[in-house]
Amino acid sequence: MLRSNHQKISRWLNGLDLKMWRQTSTSCCSAQRMLQKRGMMIESAARRSGFDQTNYQPVVAYPQSPRKTVPSEIARPPYAETGRVPFSRYPDQILLHDEASIAKMRRAARLARRSLDFACQLAVPGTTTDTIDVAVHNALIAESAYPSPLNYAGFPKSLCSSVNEVICHGIPDTRPLQSGDLVSFDVSCYIDGVHGDNCASVIVGDNVSSLENNNNNNNNADEMDNCIERDWRGVPVKVDFKSKEEESHYVSCRRLVKATRESLYAAIEACGPGACLTSVGTAICDVADHYEYNSVEKYRGHGIGQEFHCPPYVKHYRNDDKLELLPGMIFTIEPMLTIGSPECFEWDDQWTVSTVDGGWAAQFEHTVLITEEGVEILTLP
Ligand code: MF3
Ligand code: CO
Repeated sequence: MLRSNHQKISRWLNGLDLKMWRQTSTSCCSAQRMLQKRGMMIESAARRSGFDQTNYQPVVAYPQSPRKTVPSEIARPPYAETGRVPFSRYPDQILLHDEASIAKMRRAARLARRSLDFACQLAVPGTTTDTIDVAVHNALIAESAYPSPLNYAGFPKSLCSSVNEVICHGIPDTRPLQSGDLVSFDVSCYIDGVHGDNCASVIVGDNVSSLENNNNNNNNADEMDNCIERDWRGVPVKVDFKSKEEESHYVSCRRLVKATRESLYAAIEACGPGACLTSVGTAICDVADHYEYNSVEKYRGHGIGQEFHCPPYVKHYRNDDKLELLPGMIFTIEPMLTIGSPECFEWDDQWTVSTVDGGWAAQFEHTVLITEEGVEILTLP
């Protein structure tokens, strides 16, 4: 890999704690100011979002299954044994990937994406995120890949699963998924010495059941196709609801998922050679503002390659990071949008990140490459 010497990069490293891509807490005062400034907006967003949380029981931790192992013949990242993430080898530089490295990154990213799609498929009512974790763990191993989250700074599982008001870094456990849950899966893998990383959100049980299918069998196929509403995967969404409340819940979740994915794609569109990294945050916030959602500030996208998290760190909010994007840069963009407050707290497990107000959150993430012509999404199937 070539390296670009970038003077201003040290700026990003200020305010980073051990989990490098996480910003240290904003001081109490500024958090309060932020909340005051946004107070009105958050209130109206939550009210308008259609979420009825009167009878909602917040997500709680369920027991976890024992840790999984990875066969010794599979190459592992440096933290796999100890849980300690070594300091970045190039903490103040942004790597520019050459063709050979890009080829490896494409492969890792593609596997990450296929494994993410697999996780999403498995998210049906009654199953558990633990079951999905095991399935993805085994699928990655079958491809001779190491699941990047496993023992990363001590993370106990092979993927992150974040349910409802959990924003990110949720630990798969034995809580049965319920119809109407909103789950984000964050799947990353290490193969051929590099990492690929991506994330997506799905609504559990939001698909046409076989019963509904049978009812529609007689209709003209083309006509049907035009009026079928599909989610981002192309899965036809649920049309039969038990109540108005149930319908409005699904409609609200779909809106949050749609907006979050839209914000990721708007951010990607703003990228290209000569573009400025700051436009990523602007693009995400423009979309969030439009929907009256909020963008979580504490967790950021990151450079990725031989190291799971490295510069540049990518803010999902309006900022002044004047970094010129250059061909060969590879980083993730991973916006998290919330229907209410974007402020978050960590559970006692030291991983699970939840909204402070219990408002639900969605997340999408791609690994992208800046090319001579524009930008290439690497996490494609
Ligand atoms: N895409 C996530 C991130 O970059 C993956 C986290 S894996 C974990 O934050 F192990 F760190 F949780
Ligand atoms: Co990431």
